[in-house]
Amino acid sequence: MENNLLTTLRTLFDSALDDQIRYVMTPIEMLKPMVYSLKNGGKRLRPLLLLSTLSIQSTDLIKSGLKSAIALEYIHTYSLIHDDLPAMDDDELRRGQPTNHIQFDEATAILAGDALLTDAFGIIVVDELLSDEIKTKLIFELSRSAGSHGMVAGQLSDVKADINQTEFDDLVTIHSLKTGKLFTFAIKAAAIIAMLEENEMQQLVAFSEHFGRAYQIHNDIMDVEGNEVSTGKSVHKDEDLDKVTYPILLGLEQSKIELNKELTAGRDILNQLSQQTQKDYGQLEVFLNLLELKEA
Ligand code: IPE
Ligand code: IPE
Ligand code: MG
Ligand code: MG
Repeated sequence: MENNLLTTLRTLFDSALDDQIRYVMTPIEMLKPMVYSLKNGGKRLRPLLLLSTLSIQSTDLIKSGLKSAIALEYIHTYSLIHDDLPAMDDDELRRGQPTNHIQFDEATAILAGDALLTDAFGIIVVDELLSDEIKTKLIFELSRSAGSHGMVAGQLSDVKADINQTEFDDLVTIHSLKTGKLFTFAIKAAAIIAMLEENEMQQLVAFSEHFGRAYQIHNDIMDVEGNEVSTGKSVHKDEDLDKVTYPILLGLEQSKIELNKELTAGRDILNQLSQQTQKDYGQLEVFLNLLELKEA
């Protein structure tokens, strides 16, 4: 992801995360599995989306988003630790390294995930840069995006989905929940912190929904066409696990067409937003560009 702004934001985020971890007063056997998954090479897309959206409003606002970005990455990290567990996707490799339950053990991985999820809300509560009103809104939105109205609901539908009974619309809903909702929180958090108008926020949310769906379609295509080195994960897992994915439901070619539709819809919204607000929303296009498939 070569881009000066993103490199700067990533450095800021990583150092804020280091500070966050440095001051945690908890036994090392608790902290170690949390830090293992927080620090083993994630792309930090959700924090970067949040901070980039803030930076489009004003560079002064970036620091006000750091704690929310950390809370979001905590929840994303917990979701991956649990997603990899034997009872879910039973994966042994993530980001090119052993998954949490392989590196430690299953009970530790479950509890490290629980701790990351629970601690995330406390991180927002003690943020000294935001008002109580803004923090309450952020906590509510994060809870909705992550819990039984959001990511977790999508994960349950994902593990229960039966290929013979899943329609295309059901699959879109699963993707929107399990993957889209945390990206939407990234955008909403920035909108809440920057106190954007409702209309601007709704258009940004629509952008994040297209991005989230595109992200999961791309992820599912990579499970078929990618390799262990480029993805850092075991590939061809979805077919082994009888997962309902775009490639399995629609085939690869149609999946690529659907991916492009989502990317185009995302770009259109950014163009409209830039025109309407006179702000440089084109900066968010870099996130869509990540999902362009390279021709073999
Ligand atoms: C992986 O998310 C899970 C999906 C929603 C597809 P990322 O691809 O953002 O994972 P990391 O954090 O960069 O490893
Ligand atoms: C992960 O979905 C979504 C969440 C963790 C919420 P997948 O199971 O498709 O993602 P990978 O392929 O394991 O990263
Ligand atoms: Mg999964
Ligand atoms: Mg998985």
